[in-house]
Amino acid sequence: MKLCVIGTGYVGLVGAAVFADWGNEVIGVDIDEAKIKKIERGIMPIYEPGLSDLVLLNVKQKRLSFTTNLKKGIQGAEIVFICVGTPQSKSGSADLSQVWQVSENIGKFMTDKIYKVIVTKSTVPVGTNEKVKQILKKFAPKSAKFDVASNPEFLREGCSVKDMQKTERTVVGTETERAMKVMRKFYEHLNMPIVECDLRSSEMIKYASNAFLATKISFINEMAQLCEKAGADVVKVAEGMGLDSRIGSKFLNAGIGYGGACFPKDVSALRRTSLDFAYDFALLQGVMRVNDVQKHYFANKIYEEFGGENLSGLTFACLGLAFKGDTDDTRESVAIKIIHLLRGRGAQVRVYDPEAMENAKRELGTSSVFFAKDKYEVLKGADAMLILTEWGEFKDMDLTKVKKLLKKPLIFDGRNLLDKKVVEANGFKYLAIGRKTGSQKQKAPDFRAAIL
Ligand code: UDX
Repeated sequence: MKLCVIGTGYVGLVGAAVFADWGNEVIGVDIDEAKIKKIERGIMPIYEPGLSDLVLLNVKQKRLSFTTNLKKGIQGAEIVFICVGTPQSKSGSADLSQVWQVSENIGKFMTDKIYKVIVTKSTVPVGTNEKVKQILKKFAPKSAKFDVASNPEFLREGCSVKDMQKTERTVVGTETERAMKVMRKFYEHLNMPIVECDLRSSEMIKYASNAFLATKISFINEMAQLCEKAGADVVKVAEGMGLDSRIGSKFLNAGIGYGGACFPKDVSALRRTSLDFAYDFALLQGVMRVNDVQKHYFANKIYEEFGGENLSGLTFACLGLAFKGDTDDTRESVAIKIIHLLRGRGAQVRVYDPEAMENAKRELGTSSVFFAKDKYEVLKGADAMLILTEWGEFKDMDLTKVKKLLKKPLIFDGRNLLDKKVVEANGFKYLAIGRKTGSQKQKAPDFRAAIL
């Protein structure tokens, strides 16, 4: 099939490459000329395993090309995917200005006679596709034949190529059988069931999924705080809970909170949507509040260990800057937020991340942060080691080497990544999330006071 993919970010670029690899003829469109030129030379704007090879292969085989010319991009296309950004606006809702602009342009340039399905893949609030249709109708020539469809993506950064190639689910919302037929034909080779529904339900599925996962994380993070006070171990609690197939073990890793370009903005946007419909989705407010508190709870451990407010004269070795492992993305990264908190109290930081150094330099500046070349150099002379991102390579640190490099054998593990027993057996003081430590005294609540 002939396709056009508008937007070459995480969703659009991965989508364009994978759809071309499925044998379609794909044109990727972006307004950013420099970005398009780089992609054509094989320089990817993002770090995503397998992406660069897939793009180059499909460009070479002439199934994939890129342009800044939207008119050219949509000419002859049977499906036009809208994959532009929908960042968080000041009010907490999704900023849809790029979606509106692109819809207007698609309308204006829809001059060929080919029936098109205009598909929104970007995460957009309920009702957006109906408005996209209105805009298209307003700007398209009377002769243009088209329908709209909602087809949200569920890609995880770091494995988005694999996720797009072999999705666990495909959700398609349309208003007409004709559009649904086109979408069925596009996905039929995957041999996977499609959740076929109306536009609004499809839009809602995406937000519901992300909000539910964020809720799972905030739940286990709040459990972690309780476990720590009550002398239980949240890692064991999560293991025990996760074996129940109704609960499942995924997204039950307690840590410093969720970040990234999706969860924070999508939870906030869904709450905003609920208020727009005069319904207060109060649970989501709790999810956001817990997530906000979690970084302070972790930072507090550091303040307490070093006697309070003033951290000047201390140096921390921060392992991890990306919002999660296997990505270079630092958007809404809790690691960066924690570094800001520590520097705000006068601490010096040495930092290292396997992929996110360049992005972190933009956020942290280079003047007073030491950017180390590896996971050991970062430790040199630091007062403590902080694990802030769940990178696999931080799991198997050589603890003897770590001990030699640090000033004190002290580890704050914000991702519960290390094996507590092994770390403590190697003579470290280990402070993690929701885990009892030998040195921490639990203050038992006075039950008598509650009864009397
Ligand atoms: C997410 C959704 O998973 C994906 O389906 C959607 O399309 C986009 O948003 P992504 O942003 O790549 O994907 O990140 P994800 O792997 O879901 O992790 C989000 C955040 O939650 C990270 O900061 C991660 O560190 C944190 N997290 C995840 C936890 O703190 N604990 C967990 O158990 C899992």
